[in-house]
Amino acid sequence: MSNYHIKSFEEYFQVYRKSIENPEGFWEEIAEEHFTWRKKWNNVLSWDFTKPEVKWFEGAQLNITENCLDRHLSTRGDKTAILFEPNDPNAPAEHITYKQLHERVCKFANALKSKGIQKGDRVCIYLPMIPELAVSVLACARIGAVHSVVFAGFSATALSTRINDCDAKMVITSDGSYRGTKTIDLKGIVDEALEDCPGVDSVLVAKRINSGIQMKEGRDYWLQSLLDDAYGDCTIEIMNAEDPLFILYTSGSTGMPKGMLHTTAGYMVYSAYTFKNVFDYRENDVYWCTADIGWITGHSYIVYGPLVNGATTVMFEGVPSYPDFGRFWKIVEKHKITQFYTAPTAIRALAKHGTKLVEKHDLSSLKVLGTVGEPINEEAWHWYNENIGKKKSPIVDTWWQTETGGIMITPIPFSTPTKPTYATLPFIGIQPALMDENGNELNDNQVDGRLCIKYPWPSMARTIWGNHQRYKDTYFSAFENMYFTGDGALRDEVGYYRITGRVDDVIIVSGHNLGTAPIEDAINEHQAVAESAIVGFPHDVKGNALYGYVTLKDSGESRDQDNLRKEINQLITDRIGPIAKLDKIQFTNGLPKTRSGKIMRRILRKIAFNEADQLGDISTLLNPEVVDEIITNVI
Ligand code: WT7
Repeated sequence: MSNYHIKSFEEYFQVYRKSIENPEGFWEEIAEEHFTWRKKWNNVLSWDFTKPEVKWFEGAQLNITENCLDRHLSTRGDKTAILFEPNDPNAPAEHITYKQLHERVCKFANALKSKGIQKGDRVCIYLPMIPELAVSVLACARIGAVHSVVFAGFSATALSTRINDCDAKMVITSDGSYRGTKTIDLKGIVDEALEDCPGVDSVLVAKRINSGIQMKEGRDYWLQSLLDDAYGDCTIEIMNAEDPLFILYTSGSTGMPKGMLHTTAGYMVYSAYTFKNVFDYRENDVYWCTADIGWITGHSYIVYGPLVNGATTVMFEGVPSYPDFGRFWKIVEKHKITQFYTAPTAIRALAKHGTKLVEKHDLSSLKVLGTVGEPINEEAWHWYNENIGKKKSPIVDTWWQTETGGIMITPIPFSTPTKPTYATLPFIGIQPALMDENGNELNDNQVDGRLCIKYPWPSMARTIWGNHQRYKDTYFSAFENMYFTGDGALRDEVGYYRITGRVDDVIIVSGHNLGTAPIEDAINEHQAVAESAIVGFPHDVKGNALYGYVTLKDSGESRDQDNLRKEINQLITDRIGPIAKLDKIQFTNGLPKTRSGKIMRRILRKIAFNEADQLGDISTLLNPEVVDEIITNVI
């Protein structure tokens, strides 16, 4: 019988065992029973982590949008697929049915074709959280174009880097976006980015804020006029299982952002199967994930996972603080939300404003609560459990990554007993391992180590676009025959996992993955700066905030330091985006270095954590004398 919907802890263990003992048989059964294929596979899985090369469902043919849309038309045609809640709390919500979404995607797909987009072309999408964002993603998938969504909070420089890295031919954007009481000139940012992007030959512009923008003749087109001319049906492009579906960039600890490449069949199967089980999704539920589609959470759990399951998925354009900090709860009440999935940083920000705004609203529709993006601290977990879930909605603390495509370690609601701050147990088919620094697997419970995955799963990224060597070096070289996540974790006495945080130079700020190197590069562009180093330090809302140690070319005494700080943060905003701004900037005469010249971040981290008394032996440093000065001037 089908294992598609797990309903008890016992069943979880049974299904888990089956998925580990016979992964191919297990995934074959799931794939066969719950998806629409144009041709079945010849081989469920082939893999070799030393190359690394992983292929799922080889030989199969399909289109993911047939699974998201067409196959629901006869049974769910008039059901709401996307429920759009606009920024303005007084504007009406929009219910887009499966039939309407199908037609909108088809028209959009035909519009893409009319501008010369073909199977395999890359299309960059830079849009706010409006229905066109989901529609354009699906339109690309329908014709086999590879979408690369860039979060619309990234700067022009960050956008052009991502456009050029994957040679996108087209950009889809809007005249602007709403953010609470503010508007943002997205088209202006695109224009600036495209000065450095010779490969882009067309820009489609959705109208959202009706600002008077410049349209460049022969390059820019109003989306609506193309849609008006487009036919409302578009046959699917038949895709091979391993054809690229999308690229999504994530920060690395060094260098350029990494364009993680996800392919078609495995991603579809895993995102759909996890969605169904992690959220215990039932036919009449109204599911809401507050993430932006610009992140993997939005790809897998706003668009693809829910739609493949024929769910109603909410898209929220606004922010949690507008018109006040009760907005989320107002939306839960208004749309009778059943599953609510958000980030710990949002919970902490809302908890700061007390429970008055929560109590005003009827939250009794909620059944399952979720968190993602960073470790959730105990206090936030209890606040969420008591005030939002009223101690009756299980919290699924879901650990995963852009690279994993889908949720990897998580409770199954109503099955797995939860434990605050623990992501608990591996999802079906996932084989985690904790490794020590010498590369040995730690087989006992009550250990901590580096979190790896031993065996392929269907939605893992297949490569870094244009740089397979970097893919191998980053994920498959630290430990033999393992995928290395970059996270540390501990396993408790019953085998539950708790993610302790990054063990590399990536810092998670408000649930956003930030590499230290690109931020340091931005700071070092300032003409007064000689050198810099960034570390994370604990912050009660953001989880981590950024602390920058900056040395100047001449001794900075004559300068206006506050002004310098502003200029540095402006540079970071221009190069990356406001999410990467530093909370604290300390000017120093030097940075602690090893004899080989490497900056000792461990020491800088301790100082920023106010733990300078635990520095240990620093006598082997090249320049131990700078440490005292840094400690004295700590902010
Ligand atoms: C990193 C991945 C996956 C969607 C959003 C983030 C951290 C993610 C958890 C969690 C502790 C978590 C990890 C991971 N992370 N979820 N439940 N508990 N840490 O995707 O931007 O690729 O970041 O986020 O450090 O490696 P991402």
